[in-house]
Amino acid sequence: MGRDEQPLIGESQSFLEILDEVSRVAPLNRPVLVVGERGTGKELIAERLHFLSARWDRPLVKLNCGAISESLLESELFGHEAGAFTDASRARQGRFELADSGSLFLDELATTSMSVQEKLLRVIEYGQYERLGSSRTREVDVRLIGATNMDLPTLASSGRFRADLLDRLAFDVITLPPLRDRREDIMPLAEHFAMRMTRELGREVFSGFSTNARELLLNHPWPGNIRQLKNVIERAIYRHDEIDQPVSGIQFDPFESPWRPGANQARPSAARPDEPLPEDLRSHLDALEKHFVLRALADCQGHQRKAAEQLGLSYDQLRGIIKKHSIKLRH
Ligand SMILES: Nc1ncnc2c1ncn2[C@@H]1O[C@H](COP(=O)(O)OP(=O)(O)O)[C@@H](O)[C@H]1O
Ligand SMILES: [Mg+2]
Repeated sequence: MGRDEQPLIGESQSFLEILDEVSRVAPLNRPVLVVGERGTGKELIAERLHFLSARWDRPLVKLNCGAISESLLESELFGHEAGAFTDASRARQGRFELADSGSLFLDELATTSMSVQEKLLRVIEYGQYERLGSSRTREVDVRLIGATNMDLPTLASSGRFRADLLDRLAFDVITLPPLRDRREDIMPLAEHFAMRMTRELGREVFSGFSTNARELLLNHPWPGNIRQLKNVIERAIYRHDEIDQPVSGIQFDPFESPWRPGANQARPSAARPDEPLPEDLRSHLDALEKHFVLRALADCQGHQRKAAEQLGLSYDQLRGIIKKHSIKLRH
């Protein structure tokens, strides 16, 4: 593994299948599209595609299309000549030029304008483009790896994404499942991030997670996927001072505080106005109940009377819920 490469952790069937697919498509000189919710590892997969290709020792250039204004994006991608626009005092290479004979990773591809999409199609198909402010056609050999968290076929059918570019990009599409649909990966990832953070803090040991903490981690919906898991674990490790004890304190929301601005009017996060309707209300509510009880138990280090108090329940009511969900207590 190269110096720049990060290990890809995961044991679930769906993740292993993705790694197979990545190895299969990596050596081909074709564009690839990586699709998935934020934090599912799209960028890491793009790196793997590059390093497993024949271009591995050539540049891998990255650009987040969503982070740049439309007018700047074109000159970022294709470069410009001196005087091409007001601030362009000197000529500049674009990302395609910099990535020549290597790979170009374009994140948040769905946000690009139609005019950028048209130029992308041309450079993918014919390897040709012009710098802004120049009529000289230049040639490049770049393998494009695109990423998006949007459904491009839907955007294409409503005319917001070019169908011909989509066809060309979608030579192969790698779709990363959200973390909540591959729960077998949660603990291996959590332990990996915990160990890394332990080393980073210069501590000798990581004593694992308490049963309650594991339950919490395994049952969380992880809307921010692996990136969120990483943050939650790193925070739990650095806040944990009894280093010979298993980690039990898990805080999902770092903004959680009684002093948070607007905290009094805040709605419960599971009842946001844009929350899609649950497919099965009863099991959805059960999952929520379990989630909040686990969290209260974690906040109170497993102390059931305190947890009951926090949730406005009697001790017996809490016991009932713990039993109903077969929640395992303490280590
Ligand atoms: N399979 C994995 N194993 C280890 N770390 C991962 C894995 N997938 C993602 N990560 C880490 O999670 C974070 C988010 O990944 P990233 O590729 O930036 O996601 P995305 O581009 O989909 O938003 C990064 O810190 C990345 O290193
Ligand atoms: Mg990303």
